[in-house]
Amino acid sequence: MLNQNVQDAINRQINMEFQSSYKYLGMASFCALQNFPGCAAWLLLQSQEENHHAMRLRQFMLDRDCAVELQPIKEASVDFESIPHVFEKSLEQEKAVSASINDLYELAHENKAFAALVELQWFITEQVEEEKTVRDIVAKMNMVKDDPSALIDLDRELGDRKPEEDGE
Ligand SMILES: [Fe+2]
Ligand SMILES: [Fe+2]
Repeated sequence: MLNQNVQDAINRQINMEFQSSYKYLGMASFCALQNFPGCAAWLLLQSQEENHHAMRLRQFMLDRDCAVELQPIKEASVDFESIPHVFEKSLEQEKAVSASINDLYELAHENKAFAALVELQWFITEQVEEEKTVRDIVAKMNMVKDDPSALIDLDRELGDRKPEEDGE
């Protein structure tokens, strides 16, 4: 059985992943209404990935015979200054999630929760990948933001994203 502090922190992380999924859904909705279907499709896939992250932690809790909490999800914004602004917000979000995962890892370490450490290693690797991907998109957006035709090309490129094989 996991230490209660570790359980509480994992339950908060489950909420953060669902919250993140909801935020990406809001971003996707904004992009769709702005007629950037590629950005919208990319963000929708991202929303689904975040949902899988939450589900992955939920399954871990159940496998360790721990009670899952499903805490409230806050309203997500559907209003942004611009398409590049959406991805800046996304990068902020990913950095916040990385910080939260790192704190959780530290707590699991202090509590000698070895199985949790192994599970959380997957999340640490995933966050490195997610931050890098979003940072690259932000850099591209900054290059093309004053050039509508280049922004449309970038939208098309983002629309080519395929779901990950494992859905994560
Ligand atoms: Fe996530
Ligand atoms: Fe993420």
